[in-house]
Amino acid sequence: MSKFVVTGGNRLQGSVRVSGSKNSTSALMFAAALGKDDVILTNIPLNSDVITMSEILRSIGVEVKFNGQSVIINGANITNHQPPYELVRRIRASVYTAGLLLGRLGMADVAMPGGDEIGTRPIDLHIRGFQTLGSEVTIEHGQMVCKSKGLKGATYYINKVSVGATINMMLAAVLAEGVTIIDNPAKEPEVVDCAILLNSMGAKIRGAGTASIKIEGVESLHGCEHTPIPDRIEAGTFMIATAAIGGDVQVNNVITEHLRMVISKLREAGAEIIEGDNDIRIICNHRLKTVDVDTGVYPGFATDLQAPFGVLLSKAEGTGIICETVFDNRFRYIDELRRMGADIKVERDTAIFRGVERLSGAPVVGTDIRAGVSLVIAGLMAEGVTEVSGACHIDRGYENFDEKLRDLGAGIQRVAESLEEVKA
Ligand code: EPZ
Repeated sequence: MSKFVVTGGNRLQGSVRVSGSKNSTSALMFAAALGKDDVILTNIPLNSDVITMSEILRSIGVEVKFNGQSVIINGANITNHQPPYELVRRIRASVYTAGLLLGRLGMADVAMPGGDEIGTRPIDLHIRGFQTLGSEVTIEHGQMVCKSKGLKGATYYINKVSVGATINMMLAAVLAEGVTIIDNPAKEPEVVDCAILLNSMGAKIRGAGTASIKIEGVESLHGCEHTPIPDRIEAGTFMIATAAIGGDVQVNNVITEHLRMVISKLREAGAEIIEGDNDIRIICNHRLKTVDVDTGVYPGFATDLQAPFGVLLSKAEGTGIICETVFDNRFRYIDELRRMGADIKVERDTAIFRGVERLSGAPVVGTDIRAGVSLVIAGLMAEGVTEVSGACHIDRGYENFDEKLRDLGAGIQRVAESLEEVKA
């Protein structure tokens, strides 16, 4: 286990290159295994979730070969429909194993997934989608047990916008017999990216990113090469960090259309933002003004940027309000921020940030990917030293996070955590 030792006071200066999207790569790796030829995914983020997903895929018979920043996936020999329980429960994206196995074998025994502790994370929308396609689904001993005589296309209205349920439905339906319509799907760029890959493999998906997706089932899928979209959440994290800490940073390898809401909110708070074709420059050398944010489904303000933006508001001038509308327990980082002097009141799905002039460094705990990076940003905004434990969470979602920050002039070091510290 390791932690980050962060020393505040340095402005951020220079440029940073955004990696391929973690959440898109999660879907793409399973989608690639629906084919029976090599699918090459280039410029993937080599984070620990990608390693876990490769282990899950191999456990069901998929060939996974890493080659630098690329991975070659071949699903020709999928034989096992029961991936190991302990592997599957490590992360949320493992739930896509069910869609993959149902799509290929018509059956799946997949453990209920794990993932960041940001609230209740049911999978009822995934299960209902599989049942709509003709699969029986029961929960037995912590496993989602899916049985079918082959999936048949159907119309599925998803009661609540869900990225995972939308993607899982696409994975199961592309090889089903007949036409599937998904109404009220998630419109996130990661959903669109997955549809683009599947169509490059020979699938027939129309309408990804709109209010209705139509999928015509095909017999089989072939190989191709695909580059995941840049990670809009990593890009947003570095943009928010630069505005909150102060500095002048160019964020390279971005799709500005995916960042409209965070660009708008940072400008409203007083940061200067210069948009290039596939890069964004953020300049800020003064105290920001506070703003209000409601998180929402795409193209709303991304829930994954809620914690980093909360840290920014903790030192902005005035009182700002964040309403977290997607997950029901995504304010856990606020208790830790209070240790650093933040003045924040939480009432159910709303947090009220009374901006303070200064934060002071303290030992804090990062409980999930986005909380962890947010506390690192807070440490870079604070006076003195902050120790952020739980670097393992950050490593799940950000590639070389501390190196990228050091290259921008941030005072951050990764150190091993003693067993006592881990137990504390
Ligand atoms: C994906 O999670 C992302 N994870 C999350 O990123 C992201 O925050 C989330 O989408 C929303 O954009 C991956 O892609 C691996 P949802 P997912 O299904 O698919 C409820 C990060 O930090 N819901 O869109 O699990 C759910 O509880 C992570 O990178 C049901 O009620 O999210 C939530 O309130 C965190 N039943 C809402 O829908 C279901 O069956 C949206 O969840 C499924 C979801």
